[in-house]
Amino acid sequence: MELGIKTSWFKMNKKILITGGAGFIGSHVVRLFVNKYKDYQIVNLDALTYAGNLENLKDINQAKNYIFEKGDITDAGFLETLFKKYDFVGVIHLAAESHVDRSISDPMAFVMTNVIGTVNLLNVAKKAWNGNYEGKRFYHVSTDEVYGELFDPKEFFTETTKYDPHSPYSASKASSDHFVRAYHDTYGMPTVISNCSNNYGPNHFPEKLIPLMINNIKNNLPLPVYGKGENVRDWLYVIDHARAIDDIYHGAENGETYNIGGNNEWKNIDLVYLLCKIMDEKLGRAAGTSAGLITFVKDRAGHDLRYAIDASKLMKKLGWEPSVTFEQGLEATVEWYLSNWDWIANITSGEYQKYYEEMYG
Ligand code: NAD
Ligand code: DAU
Repeated sequence: MELGIKTSWFKMNKKILITGGAGFIGSHVVRLFVNKYKDYQIVNLDALTYAGNLENLKDINQAKNYIFEKGDITDAGFLETLFKKYDFVGVIHLAAESHVDRSISDPMAFVMTNVIGTVNLLNVAKKAWNGNYEGKRFYHVSTDEVYGELFDPKEFFTETTKYDPHSPYSASKASSDHFVRAYHDTYGMPTVISNCSNNYGPNHFPEKLIPLMINNIKNNLPLPVYGKGENVRDWLYVIDHARAIDDIYHGAENGETYNIGGNNEWKNIDLVYLLCKIMDEKLGRAAGTSAGLITFVKDRAGHDLRYAIDASKLMKKLGWEPSVTFEQGLEATVEWYLSNWDWIANITSGEYQKYYEEMYG
């Protein structure tokens, strides 16, 4: 396919590659950068796997400073062509296989994209930048799952917590983090890493806990809670993650790591009850109706008990703080799903994957 260069492209000096921009978090990062930095050119590279959905970006698709490129980060030749074409000064790398349950049934897909894909990107950026790292940045977006799990309620993951991944997903992310650090330490690459807790918000793929529960409640389907629902996650509104990525991209020192989290821990079962309550109110159902759908199912293999992030470095050094409370964020999220029901319907029917053909031929 011809690269979709727009007229003013080469007049603009900051060309930034965002990988995985058609996914959940990536689409919010792309939107933030496209709207906030009009003098940047944002290239969104995404393979449009089952998790990539260009409908997530339909509001900015025509923006002058935005270009979409379909491609796979496991294809080194494609990446080299892309870097030659656009001469990127920055990379924000979000493309990944991201679902823990899928990593348990198909670990190799996670090795390919999360490990090999990340190393490909590092190699191609290193070759393109050729030791001239002035003004360059390679930002790798990672997860708190690399730190393993917590048992002591007083403990939190900090930037120096030892890596201890348990699932094939977290092992693949840990591996990619190690490669990014190795390229900084060995070749002087200007890298930065952030490790974030669980995100929620609009455009979250309905295989993940919160959108799955919203979808199933609406459709009167069983609400599968793994084990006893005792596992704890620290939830952050996706737009606040995107804001943190912006702050870190522009404010971090090379070689640094930042943890990002909401200081907002919920046991899964409590969160599911809360969603049932909100949905009963929104759908005009009698209180307690949706909770009747809760079904305890076999636990996830290797299920981490608790994640909790200490984000004080990010707050103190870069002045970031969440912009919404959990109540506000969850309300906005449920409202978004209820007013964009065709988005989830398109995913469940598979229609969303035709969008690329319609947009780009
Ligand atoms: P997602 O699954 O919604 O999106 C991933 C995107 O990457 C999709 O658009 C997909 O098409 C694309 N992609 C997958 N394989 C690719 C490949 N080989 N080449 C090019 N593109 C490919 O994921 P997400 O939840 O938005 O997560 C984004 C990143 O943030 C991931 O790196 C993930 O590890 C990390 N992260 C996620 C969370 C979370 O709660 N979702 C929390 C912390 C960190
Ligand atoms: O912590 C950050 C991570 O959060 C990200 O790196 C991952 O990409 C992201 O998927 C997420 O991982 P989790 O495994 O924590 O998210 P998930 O939504 O799959 O599950 C959240 C919790 O809910 C977890 O304890 C498992 C449980 N669960 C999940 C599903 C899908 C259920 O009880 N039932 C379910 O049907």
